[in-house]
Amino acid sequence: MIPLSRLHWHVLLIFLASLRGHCRYIQVRDAAEDALVLLNADIKRELSEEQIYRRSLRCIDMLSIDGQFTFKAEQPQLHCALFIIGDPEEFITIEYNFVNIDCLGGDILKVFDGWIIKGEKFPSSLDHLLSTSERYTDICEDGNMQSITQSSQNVAMIFFRVQKPGHGFTLTIRKTPNLFPCNVISQSPSGKFTMIIPHQHRNCSFSIIYPIVIKISDLTLGHFNELQLKKPPPKGCGGAGDFLELLGGAGLDPSNMFPLADLCHSFHGSAQMKIGCDNSVVRMVSSGKFINRVTFEYSQLDRQLERQQGNSVEEVCSPLD
Ligand SMILES: *[C@@H]1O[C@H](CO)[C@@H](O)[C@H](O)[C@H]1NC(C)=O
Repeated sequence: MIPLSRLHWHVLLIFLASLRGHCRYIQVRDAAEDALVLLNADIKRELSEEQIYRRSLRCIDMLSIDGQFTFKAEQPQLHCALFIIGDPEEFITIEYNFVNIDCLGGDILKVFDGWIIKGEKFPSSLDHLLSTSERYTDICEDGNMQSITQSSQNVAMIFFRVQKPGHGFTLTIRKTPNLFPCNVISQSPSGKFTMIIPHQHRNCSFSIIYPIVIKISDLTLGHFNELQLKKPPPKGCGGAGDFLELLGGAGLDPSNMFPLADLCHSFHGSAQMKIGCDNSVVRMVSSGKFINRVTFEYSQLDRQLERQQGNSVEEVCSPLD
């Protein structure tokens, strides 16, 4: 919707990194202010239940904690975007406390259920239960001013345009638990996650927007036993209704990413892979007939080190790079 450039992709990474306190990125974040440093997990824990965290918003901003946030334009702001991210097991709830913008005059305030960067969506249209137009909530439309919007996964985004100085809005962000997270963007370049799709005909993507080393330690696809008994497993995943794919790419949308590996047979043990792309995705395709489940662990891949060792991990990612 808004043509966010490659620069914004990097701003996003810097935001994410500073939320988690990775010093490599903090050194280059000259735009980040003290408020960002406050966002780390320790402070989050120290805030007691009754205290509401409050701060003002910038035109391009990112939030990972609950609180009340205010934007007030000091000059006309035409292309603003607020990225919101929670833990994998959280939905994001957005409530408008106060809106003072000129909808008829062309101001914009819209929530998107997911993230969009450079036209690339997460979750992709293929993996989201709602159509693209249903994923937008336009606060300027009748009846939406008082509404509360809830995301379908741990990320959401707000687009806004406020043309007149002094105009703006205040909103409250809260997180609510999600027992079966399907689509997820990881807040950090390392972690561990178990994805379960219980008898649902849907596909789920777990995205890590860093180059990574990933170790898959357990994969259970419901058809394992039947296949084993009848015949030796076929080569590749052709025809399998349930499988796991690893994708790599430079953008946000899993449906535009390169398939790097398909796994369609259950195993216990450990399979490791290096993905030297800007974005890495574990995607599970599920027919709904079984309970599918996978556990994986990931950590950031040092592309420079890989290059020194003569490993060409990123060739596969993107000929554009
Ligand atoms: C899941 O993905 C597969 C392969 O990408 C596709 O054929 C199928 O239609 C998708 N299922 C749903 C429910 O979107």
